[in-house]
Parts: sequence; structure tokens; C-alpha cells
Amino acid sequence: MKNYNITTLNDFITLKQKDFPYAKGELSSLLTHIGTAAKMVNKKINKAGLVDIIGNSGSVNIQGESQQKLDVYADEVFINALLTSGQCCGVATEENQSEIVFTEPFAQKGKYIVCTDPLDGSSNIDYNVSVGSIFSIYRRITPRGEKVRNEDFLQEGSKQVAAGYIIYGSSTMLVYTTGNGVNGFTLDPSIGEFCLSHPEIKTPEDGRIYSVNEGNWVHFPPGIKKYVKYCQEKDAGTLRPYTSRYIGSLVSDFHRNLLKGGIFLYPENETAPKGKLRIVYECNPIAFISEQSGGAASNGCERILSITPSSLHQRSPFYAGSKNMVKKIEEFLSL
Ligand code: AHG
Ligand code: MN
Ligand code: MN
Repeated sequence: MKNYNITTLNDFITLKQKDFPYAKGELSSLLTHIGTAAKMVNKKINKAGLVDIIGNSGSVNIQGESQQKLDVYADEVFINALLTSGQCCGVATEENQSEIVFTEPFAQKGKYIVCTDPLDGSSNIDYNVSVGSIFSIYRRITPRGEKVRNEDFLQEGSKQVAAGYIIYGSSTMLVYTTGNGVNGFTLDPSIGEFCLSHPEIKTPEDGRIYSVNEGNWVHFPPGIKKYVKYCQEKDAGTLRPYTSRYIGSLVSDFHRNLLKGGIFLYPENETAPKGKLRIVYECNPIAFISEQSGGAASNGCERILSITPSSLHQRSPFYAGSKNMVKKIEEFLSL
């Protein structure tokens, strides 16, 4: 008889919960709600172009970036899913100036806070290029039942309890970690379930892909210019020259490199003196996944997960991917 067994995301979450005898299912429930939000966003993204949902919403977010309609939609869907889970007492998102504090009594008791980039790479959405969603979960610091505060959202990245992303690509995948390895699930649209497709993802220690916006060359710090030149040089021993791949969607660029081996770079430059990516809801969750798959993530001289952010939208240079490639960049930047 053929084996039709599949492990859905919810099966897997429940299975893993059994590894923690005292777990009460709160994190499991939160992750399940994130999975549902992802399916809703996926549905809408698949319809882009068919209905009036692509394009600019006419508003700007708190960072002065123009918001796509789907940015606004994804933001609302994630916030609502997190609220209704009852496990989350507040959310910080890229689209909102301050953290959103849930005051509903059932949510205020929630044990977790979530930071999210609800739609990453959204400037690509009108052109049918892959986009993503990123999430990061922490245990709250303030006592349960009280209103959650700003400090709950400004914890060191190493305190993350879980993190993950959804990639809306040629297929839709959810990849997450709870600090015990990384697993990937592909959405089977015919049954509407994320199914375990990439168990225990390990990223190669040495990769052959570098991903950076080379249009910013004139702005790159000298160490990055030297590293990019190094990637382009011929050397049979280290299989150089490497391949250059850059989509302009962090999730998509990182995901490809995670599976194939490579490095994603977003250095500081003159127009973005602290880099472009945001620590709380972009760098930290991707760094957690990277480390958990055997890779690394750095700001050039320090492990991303050791940084304590001082504001919600704080930016950082970001280098993530294969361990030895991240090490090499740190070497070039220290010269
Ligand atoms: P967002 O759409 O959430 O604002 O993020 C866009 C980010 C990230 O996804 C990507 O890696 C980077 O911007 C691309 O920036 P450049 O266009 O400057 O290369
Ligand atoms: Mn983003
Ligand atoms: Mn975004």
C-alpha cells in the first residue's frame, strides 16, 4: 500500500510540544495562529493583479516608506490573528510607530509578545516577485495581566523563543525554529495545509552565493568592497568566483542561500548609515534561523543575537548565512 502520510504544521507543533512535559500549549497555539494568518496573506497575494489589491495604498509608514495595499492588509491580518490567539499581549510591526498593546483581558494575560515584518520585499509585489513575512516571539518581561511595555519588545535577540518566516514564492513555505533546529513546511493549496517538506534544515558551512545590492557599490565601506572583489576572484581551492544572486526580498534571498549555501549582505552606506534592515523584526528572526541551521549572523563585528536594541525600528548592517562566509566578512571588516 502506498504511504499517504503527511505531517501538517499543526501535527508537527503538537508533536514537538510533547518534548516539553510542562508546556501548556500556549506557544503551540500562537504558532498555529501565525500559520493561519500566513494562509490568509498567501491567498490575497495569489490574487494580486486579479483584483484591486496591488499598488500603493496612498499612505506612508512611520519610516516614511510608501505602503503597498498588501502591506496594510498583511499587517492587519497578523495583528488580528495574534490578538485572537489569546497567547499574545502585544505586537510590534514594521508598519506601526509604537508597539500595539492588547488591552482585551483575555489577551493581556498572554505570555508572549511578537515582532513582525508582515510583508517583506513589498516593493516587488506589483511585479510578481517573491515576498515574505517574518516573525519573532519572546516571553514577556512584564508580569502577566499587566499592560505590556516597550521594554518587552527590546530584548536581546538571543532571548527569542521562536522565529520564522513565510515565503510566498513559486510555492508558499513556512520555515521556523523554536531553538531546536529549523524545519520547513510547504503549503499544499489543495488541502490548505502546510506540510513538513524540509525537516531539520542544515545550511552548508561554505557557500558559493553572495547576495548584495551591488548598485550601492560607491557607498560600500572599504571592507565590503574588498569582500565583494574576493567573491569575484578566481581560486580553485575555494571554488571562486562565487555566484551573485539578489532578488531584493530579504526572505527570498536568505531562503535560497539557506538551502544552497551563501551569504546575504546589507552593509551600512552613505544613504543608510546604519544599514537598512531592522534589528527587531528583520535581523533577529533571520539570525535565529540562520544560527539554528548551522549558519551565522553578524553586524560585521558582533553577533546579531547579542545586540540589545534601544528602539523598535533600529537598523543594523546585516550579514547572514553560511558560517565560514560570515566569518570571512568579519575578517575583511576588521582589517
Ligand atoms: P520591506 O519591504 O519590509 O521594507 O523590506 C525590504 C528590504 C528587504 O526585503 C530587502 O532585502 C531590502 O529591503 C532590499 O533593499 P534594496 O532595494 O536597497 O536592495
Ligand atoms: Mn522587510
Ligand atoms: Mn515590510
